[in-house]
Amino acid sequence: MSVFQSKINRNSDSYQRNLALMKEKITELEAKQQEALFQGEDKYLTRTKKAGRLLARERIEMLLDADSPFMELCPFAGWGTDGFGTGGTVVAGMGFVSGRLCMLNSNVGTIKGGAIDYATLQKGLRIGEIATENHLPMINMVESAGANLPDQAKIFNYGGANFRGITQRSKLGIPTISIVFGSSTAGGAYIPGMSDYVIMVKNEAKVFLAGPPLVKMATNEVTDEESLGGAKMHSTVSGVSDYMAEDELDGIRIAREIISYLKSETRNTKSEIAEPKFEKEEILGVVSADVRIPFDQRELIARIVDGSEFSEFKPAYGSTLITGYAKINGYQIGIIANNGVLFSEAANKGAHFIQLCNQNNTPLLFLQNITGFMVGKKYEEEGIIKHGAKLINAVSNSTVPAITIITGASYGAGNYAMCGRAYKPRFLFTYPQSKIAVMGPDQLAGVMQTIGRQAAEKSGITYDEEQGKAMAGYMVKEAEKQSNAWYASGQVWDDGVIDPRETRNYLKFCLEAIHQTEFEGAKGFGVFRM
Ligand code: COA
Repeated sequence: MSVFQSKINRNSDSYQRNLALMKEKITELEAKQQEALFQGEDKYLTRTKKAGRLLARERIEMLLDADSPFMELCPFAGWGTDGFGTGGTVVAGMGFVSGRLCMLNSNVGTIKGGAIDYATLQKGLRIGEIATENHLPMINMVESAGANLPDQAKIFNYGGANFRGITQRSKLGIPTISIVFGSSTAGGAYIPGMSDYVIMVKNEAKVFLAGPPLVKMATNEVTDEESLGGAKMHSTVSGVSDYMAEDELDGIRIAREIISYLKSETRNTKSEIAEPKFEKEEILGVVSADVRIPFDQRELIARIVDGSEFSEFKPAYGSTLITGYAKINGYQIGIIANNGVLFSEAANKGAHFIQLCNQNNTPLLFLQNITGFMVGKKYEEEGIIKHGAKLINAVSNSTVPAITIITGASYGAGNYAMCGRAYKPRFLFTYPQSKIAVMGPDQLAGVMQTIGRQAAEKSGITYDEEQGKAMAGYMVKEAEKQSNAWYASGQVWDDGVIDPRETRNYLKFCLEAIHQTEFEGAKGFGVFRM
């Protein structure tokens, strides 16, 4: 493989402009990361500390191997919504426990008793999906008041999928371990109730279908929390608990011990990995801060792959799509990156390359920066729809795992062809300046104005230009709001907005997760040359 020769000029206007604007975006990202760290009002934090108990993030820290990083997932779920705030009431992500890559899911019991709002539910479902697809044992750190009762209508129907997921993973041989640290009522009781291994912490865990007040209302029975659902009762009488822990640290120790007995692949210890030859800091000057201005994605690839080595496939054909092989942390990967609008040749080249990666079982990395497929009479005549359809078909039916990173624009069918959310990449991250929508806000407003004018003409009415302009202004604002990366992340359309400089680290983690599974590329036919 050849080492990429960078052409960037650090003193150029465009590099300096990108750097300055991207730094502003990073400051915005850091502020949102701070928001996501919120673990509740002081009164709840003090009460927890006073009782000698750990907070949600501390539990994660204690559970992870001492040298393990933690890759947090969906930290901005709920941003911009009227729920319980950025990140919801659960902290989730991947890390190594007793040498095994696991999914960790820790309820924040100090915000609303850890009750689950709509965004937290969506986040939980996505976390379960990632655990299932990548065969990651799930460790739940449970302290949750169950459904956010005022939100119950919105979450009741979807909520059941969490329990279904636990048992389906179990059938696939992917265990779930629940350590119950606090109250876990009703729906919450089914989290340990469905798990493969259950640890309850003495004097803290309280697990019941209904607490004492509801029991009194329902049956007139008078009882207390400890005898109704305490760790001792569940470990010695009901058998809902498999291990009774002396305290929180003991509960964490038991979970680590269980994981150490699971037959497992251990951590990737490949030693000779060449780091990229270019500084990751330069990514901020390379990536275009304005998504309307394209940038050469090879410059980004050179800063994320091993040794900056990239073997490009068909470099001189369909040049608005870059395709080729590289390695990240020793794992081979097929990269598909936009370098302009998708033309027919580029779409065909992409479909061809996806088939090749399926033929040799290579996972795919999509680097999206796409304003869409080329439009116009000439392109319609040459059948851009059917050529684009081949790329979408290849992405849809590819069976090797995919990772998608939105590095700039993600508009129109380009989002689909480049493995957007609906095409089920195993992981999807976005850069903070990126935009995700059917089309750009100005184009959207312009199209609506044209349609309005034509409709008026057809009906013989005079089109009100002033009103049309005002409406267009409003639509631009709305579309801008709804297409920014924060909005998308708040809706859990991605797995997080990331600092572009950390791309390689995220990819290393994702590839480690992907390689926990066996996969086989789709091979219905030989590779069709396109
Ligand atoms: N939905 C929404 N909010 C809830 C909630 C729920 N299910 N359970 C608790 N909260 C909120 C409280 O309103 C309070 O909010 P605030 O901080 O704005 O005042 C906060 O969580 C803390 O609750 P509090 O009862 O003061 O804390 P606690 O530590 O004494 O008790 C629980 C925690 C979980 C034991 C207790 O709140 C409880 O039993 N909740 C109901 C559990 C339940 O029956 N769930 C059934 C869901 S299907």
